[in-house]
Amino acid sequence: MSVRHRATARESPAKLPPAGTPNQVGADSTQRLKSWADYRSEFPVFEDATYLNSCSLGALGTPVRRAIERCLDLWSSMGASAWYGPWWDELGALRRSVARLLGAGEEDVALCPSITAALSAVGSAFDYRLRPRVVIADIDFPTVSYQWLAKQSRGVEVVFVHSPDGLTVPLEAFEQAIDERTQLVATSHVYFQSGAIQDMAALAQLAHARGALLLVDAYQSVGQMPLDVRADGVDFLVTGGLKWLLGGPGIAYLYARREVRTALRPEIVGWFAHRDQFAFDITHLEYADDARRFEGGTPAIAAVFAGRAGLEYVHEITPARLRGRQVELTSALVEALRGAGLSPRLAGTVQGHAGIITVPVPDPSAAVQALARERIIIDSRPGVVRLSPYFYNTVEDIDRAVAALRRYVR
Ligand SMILES: Cc1ncc(COP(=O)(O)O)c(C=O)c1O
Repeated sequence: MSVRHRATARESPAKLPPAGTPNQVGADSTQRLKSWADYRSEFPVFEDATYLNSCSLGALGTPVRRAIERCLDLWSSMGASAWYGPWWDELGALRRSVARLLGAGEEDVALCPSITAALSAVGSAFDYRLRPRVVIADIDFPTVSYQWLAKQSRGVEVVFVHSPDGLTVPLEAFEQAIDERTQLVATSHVYFQSGAIQDMAALAQLAHARGALLLVDAYQSVGQMPLDVRADGVDFLVTGGLKWLLGGPGIAYLYARREVRTALRPEIVGWFAHRDQFAFDITHLEYADDARRFEGGTPAIAAVFAGRAGLEYVHEITPARLRGRQVELTSALVEALRGAGLSPRLAGTVQGHAGIITVPVPDPSAAVQALARERIIIDSRPGVVRLSPYFYNTVEDIDRAVAALRRYVR
């Protein structure tokens, strides 16, 4: 690892933007910039642990905890009337916050309880008779393919595109798999095991050229890097609070492009999908024009509060700066691993990766447990351990984890 690189990652205030950016705290002349260390201090896990597992679960920030407490206070003081005021408003505020992050409008965003629920609502909306095929990479997260494997008895065909290196999939392989019988290409922006980034705009072009649609599983990307669904031509995108958006479990976000969604009638549906939800019309299902047509039942409102508070970090720091920080930390991680004689698995360079790096080690789950005994939290996937730094990590965290991994391997 170069000395210059270490200095860059440590001297964090120098990386902060000039005054007047969203990173200012306070509202008067005492305003100051928040440093990476300021942010880190809002995540209590770092008081006694080295946390490098944001690709499984983003760390809990104090503002997120407070948002949940605010939700509970409203429940306690207002009972059901919280629904007709602040709780309801929070749903709209969260949709707007997600839309702003994705480059979409509020009307393009639906709130769902999980990625699985969002995918199943979308997957239930197509007429597969003329276009029965769904193209998926064999390194996507399994819940993506399960939606369509479960429909095989109704004629749906899942076409798996093979990843030659287990890290990424060449665009040419997708190109060969997409044809005039393809309904949907459903794949990841960042592959969950390898952290490799896929080119969404190029995939959208390939899909559209053959009359197919593109659904992006962006659970492992949004937050870590800038993304503009409209500029990239994405038709559907799913992401959620759990990981890089720092909102915890129970809340996922679905983007559905206007031009395609209005023709779709999801069969997995609930009363939040109705055009006039509070008319309670039991005899007619009229779908909302906006993306709420993919919503279901009453949302887990504490998760909604947490989701919005988590997103505030990403808005405040900005995805562009988060990406810069990720490249720094991930480069430091790769260099440290190599320096320790370990072999991080990379598709090309760090620039092609999000903040997820895998390393082959003997018995990865034993490695995770060995590190956990030293309060170093990472995770494993078949054959590898997975380390995933985020803005609140430091090069010291990385060095500590790599040293422990080296001891384990020896
Ligand atoms: C890329 C990706 N997609 C989907 C999922 C599953 O999401 P959910 O449990 O919300 O259905 C995960 C979970 O870790 C994931 O990493």
